[in-house]
Amino acid sequence: MTDQALSIATTVNGSPLSTRVEPRWTLAELLRDHLRLTGTKVSCEMQVCGACTVLVDGDPVSSCTYLAADVHGRAVTTIEGLAGGQELHPIQQAFVEEFALQCGYCTPGFVMMAKALLDENPSPTTEEVVHHLEGNICRCTGYAPIVAAVLRAATLVRERADGWTPTSQRPPFPIRRPGTTSLRLDALAKVTGAATYAIDMAMPGMLYGKAARAERAHARIVGIETTAALTV
Ligand code: FES
Ligand code: FES
Repeated sequence: MTDQALSIATTVNGSPLSTRVEPRWTLAELLRDHLRLTGTKVSCEMQVCGACTVLVDGDPVSSCTYLAADVHGRAVTTIEGLAGGQELHPIQQAFVEEFALQCGYCTPGFVMMAKALLDENPSPTTEEVVHHLEGNICRCTGYAPIVAAVLRAATLVRERADGWTPTSQRPPFPIRRPGTTSLRLDALAKVTGAATYAIDMAMPGMLYGKAARAERAHARIVGIETTAALTV
C-alpha cells in the first residue's frame, strides 16, 4: 500500500466491507485479486467484451475500468452473490436449462447483465434482450441460446413470484433438449462463478510471466542478458 491508498466502506454481496484501496485499482482488481471473488472475469480489460460486468447499486458496470475507490458507499453484487443459498437464481437456472454456455468465461458477465435487465424490465421482448446484451461478447456458444435463456429466466422469475417452488414441484433442471437427458457437468460451476480458469489460480510465491517483445523488427540475436532473471 502506498501513501495514496484510500479507505472505503462498501457492501459486497450483502456483506459490509471496509478496506483500503490504491487509487489506481480497478473494481475487478479489488474483487478478483484482493477479495478472491474470481467469478468476475476479465478479458479485454478495456470495456469492450462485458466479461467483467458486476452490479453497483443495481446498475451494470464494467469492473475492468471502474475504479475500486468509486464503490465507496455503494453496494456491489457479483455472480457469487446471485444464488440464494443452495438455490440458483432463475437466470442461472435458465442458462443451465437452455445450454447457454460452453467455455463459460463470458457467462458471469451475461448473467449479471441479464439481472440488470430483468430488474428493470421483467418481461422483455426478444429485441429488448438482444439490445441489452449487445455489449457482451461470447466467442463460443452463439447468441441464440443466451437470448433464449434470458427470456426463459423472465418466465422463471414470474413463476417464482407467483409462489412456484422449484425444488418441490418439478426438477430444478428440466433438460428439454431432444435426445439428451443429462446436465452439463460443468454448468453449475460456470453459472455461479465457481469455475476456475488458469488466470484465476493463485499460489503462495507465484511468479508472473510476461512476453518481452523484440524492439527491432529484423535483428540477429547474439546473446540474452539473463542476470536479472536468474536472481529471482
Ligand atoms: S474485461 Fe471488462 S469489458 Fe472486457
Ligand atoms: S461460452 Fe465461451 S466465450 Fe461465451
